[in-house]
Amino acid sequence: MEGRYGDGMTSVQTPRNQSDNVGPLDHAGNTGGVAPQQSAFSHQYSGQMPADNTYGNNNYSNTGNEYSTGMNEKTMLDRQEAQPDEKMGTIGVTEAEEVYQARAAIHEGEYSGLLGMIHNPFTAATAIFASLGGLLFGYDQGVISGVLVMQFFEAKFPLSASDKGFIVAILELGCWFGALCCGYLADRLSRKYTIVMASCIFLVGTALQTGAQSRSYLYAGRFIAGLSIGSLSMVVPLYQSEISPPSIRGSLVALQQFAITVGILISFWIDFGTNTIQSDTQWRLPLGLQLILGAILALGILFFPHSPRWLMAQGRDDEAARVLSKLRRKPVDSPLVVAEWSEIKAVVEFDKEVARRDFPQYADGSGRSNFMLGLMRYRELFRPGIFPRLCIGVLVNFFQQFTGINAVIYYAPTIFQSIGLSGTSTSLLATGVVGIINVVFTIPAVLFLDVIGRRPLLLGAAVMLTISHVIIAIMIGLYSSDWPAHAAQGWVAVAFIYVYIASFACSWGPIGWVLPSEIFPLRVRAKGISISASSNWMNNFIIALITPPMLQAWNWGAYVFFAAFCFLAFFWVLIFVPETKGRTLEEMDEVFGSKAGTVDVQLMQRIEGDIIRRRRSSFVQV
Ligand code: BGC
Repeated sequence: MEGRYGDGMTSVQTPRNQSDNVGPLDHAGNTGGVAPQQSAFSHQYSGQMPADNTYGNNNYSNTGNEYSTGMNEKTMLDRQEAQPDEKMGTIGVTEAEEVYQARAAIHEGEYSGLLGMIHNPFTAATAIFASLGGLLFGYDQGVISGVLVMQFFEAKFPLSASDKGFIVAILELGCWFGALCCGYLADRLSRKYTIVMASCIFLVGTALQTGAQSRSYLYAGRFIAGLSIGSLSMVVPLYQSEISPPSIRGSLVALQQFAITVGILISFWIDFGTNTIQSDTQWRLPLGLQLILGAILALGILFFPHSPRWLMAQGRDDEAARVLSKLRRKPVDSPLVVAEWSEIKAVVEFDKEVARRDFPQYADGSGRSNFMLGLMRYRELFRPGIFPRLCIGVLVNFFQQFTGINAVIYYAPTIFQSIGLSGTSTSLLATGVVGIINVVFTIPAVLFLDVIGRRPLLLGAAVMLTISHVIIAIMIGLYSSDWPAHAAQGWVAVAFIYVYIASFACSWGPIGWVLPSEIFPLRVRAKGISISASSNWMNNFIIALITPPMLQAWNWGAYVFFAAFCFLAFFWVLIFVPETKGRTLEEMDEVFGSKAGTVDVQLMQRIEGDIIRRRRSSFVQV
């Protein structure tokens, strides 16, 4: 197996783990502890740190978040680049073997799907609870279509068609903005507190809508709720993916999609139910019910842990170890916890060193410098190793929306009427069935995403979505002039709408959120996900705007339009999207064949080497 960090430790041939999931030994720091001084974790696991606490020859002093160097960083790095071997030392077969074994510990004996969740009950429970954010997303997105046509709502707010369109669309604009802003906040405040903040904002937005006295309450409420939904749509998958072991990461993030679909479904049936109430409660109740969910999320998430990866990035190494131990239900010094902790640690150290090298002017640890470093990370998203991943995050969401899913979800009753299902209740019922299929077919994704993988599902579904659109277009094109005489063909169209929804639900729906949450390196992960999620919302907004006129003007042509994007999506996945199933978040550089520069390679190699040497020497001390 060829390592990608040159021929130090990583080019040593090592046997492969039972599963193919263990890749070449890139971030090989996963065996040891670069533990902070007097760290409970390091004490338990690997004894004391070397007294001088030096980090290689770098005089690297790790005291929480601070780094003090006795030497100009640039000079230091230049020297290291000039004499890598002298600085790094040579790492031999034994260490490589050790690294390999610890790395394998992360993957070994891991179950996926339902079994994996049962074996990781605390992690699964945390991810399930966080997915309440998805429930709010789906409910809020879905509830409005029913409310807008309720008798008492229309009496109180006589709105034109374009006003109604604006009320729908303003949520998506808020979402777009919320998702975009939250990249910074998720790093600064933590993933967990960003969820709390977003839920509180949600309460404000929802309260305004529920108690609306004039249309300006509605506009403001929708926009504010949008800010929160957009934020939750990025921070929940981020949090879920960062607490997950690789074997069930896809499943746990797919829970967010499951919750979205349940939210859409519940909102539809609640609208359906309250429609019969003969007062303003008819529309205030479905809007107000969301307050309960928002409050549960805001308060409940406080009882769950921080993301261990975020903790580590803050220098809270001990806490990260304790959280990992709790999430994995293994002692803090078990090989698995140590391996995972060390792998994350190596990446965090690497990220910090790269930041100090690339932005020495912001290395003083001051608040202003940290803020500037945060902003600089956005620039990093456009660097060669990362930009292709940003494109994947943005494009998977572009294609997710341009499959036409929301054209079907938002305008299902109109579509069903146009294909000959006459009568409001028939078309409403058909729409309710869309919701049920959407929920039911998300379950296979939750169970099997980590078994089947992302690529096969995206590719298979792109084919099915294209076929479904084409068949619907043919049925409408040929028979819409006289549906009563072609009832069978009308039902074929309905059936293919259902096939379409089922195909989307087990693939592009969940994977649109899973993929961005796992492809970015830690230092830019929150920002990368935030831009990817904002792409989802911007494209969602565009679809909401263009669908009604398109259905009206092009009729069956609208389905051909979406079929073309599904067709394109197939080739895009085929050519550009790698498989990420079963890999740790720290292995993604390797998945993307990152062309890290030689300097970065040497830097990582030195960090990895140091972690191993430190671990060995600490064993000697113990
Ligand atoms: C999409 C939403 C869509 C929903 C349908 C989500 O993944 O982002 O726009 O309405 O799936 O289930």
